[in-house]
Amino acid sequence: MIIILFGPPGAGKGTQAQRIEKENGLVQLSTGDMLRAAVAAKTHYGQKAQEKMQAGQLVSDDIVIGIIADRIKEDDCKNGFILDGFPRTVAQAEALDEMLSEGGVALDAVIEIQVDDSALVDRISGRYTCANCLEGYHDTNLKPKVDGVCDACGGTEFKRRADDNAETVEKRLKEYYAQTAPVLPYYAKKGILQQVDGMKSIDDVAAQIAAILAA
Ligand code: AP5
Repeated sequence: MIIILFGPPGAGKGTQAQRIEKENGLVQLSTGDMLRAAVAAKTHYGQKAQEKMQAGQLVSDDIVIGIIADRIKEDDCKNGFILDGFPRTVAQAEALDEMLSEGGVALDAVIEIQVDDSALVDRISGRYTCANCLEGYHDTNLKPKVDGVCDACGGTEFKRRADDNAETVEKRLKEYYAQTAPVLPYYAKKGILQQVDGMKSIDDVAAQIAAILAA
């Protein structure tokens, strides 16, 4: 199964992708995580991407398309994957179609997580992750079971993203509406776009997605 989780920054794409990965055995492919890893490793792509990410702008299509084209050829993607944060432009959506048809596979669903803009800043500013395994948490909505200890790996170091501040979030939202939201009609025309109410609790959103995947 190949699915896209679509939505604005902070909608819950990463949170839901981690759940689907655990429950359905699909691999989460987050272009944001891949780019942050490239920045940390100071690779050629990472150095090119860093400035754009810090400014809340999209990284160029050729970089992210290249990263995804290489990644989906790896063995762990053979049973399917969840795209989290890709595609983000119509050019990326068209490139994805080409990659999938070359591989003889097709998209099963594009799931848009709909969230009011007013909730996004709170979600992003309260977000943090385990520094060891990247399990996601939130200051009020999703705390570890034991304070200061990651549920998934027992790690005790946590981190926050450099682009998770109110000013950059505003810019990321503008980019979303200017460049990414126009991808929705592309998938609506293909008849594979479905929506879930992302204003509900994390468990409720997961149940809505599970119902779509089971249909
Ligand atoms: P990326 O890392 O993809 O960031 P994003 O799209 O801005 O999305 P986020 O990771 O911020 O949010 P999310 O929807 O995953 O929410 P989460 O589950 O964490 O991209 C970062 C940057 O990389 C971009 O700005 C761009 O520069 C570059 N980039 C990446 N992909 C690119 C591409 N394809 N093309 C070009 N450039 C690209 O949830 C947020 C918080 O809310 C969490 O704390 C969570 O616990 C909480 N939460 C989640 N769901 C709920 C709920 N239902 N109720 C209450 N709280 C909830």
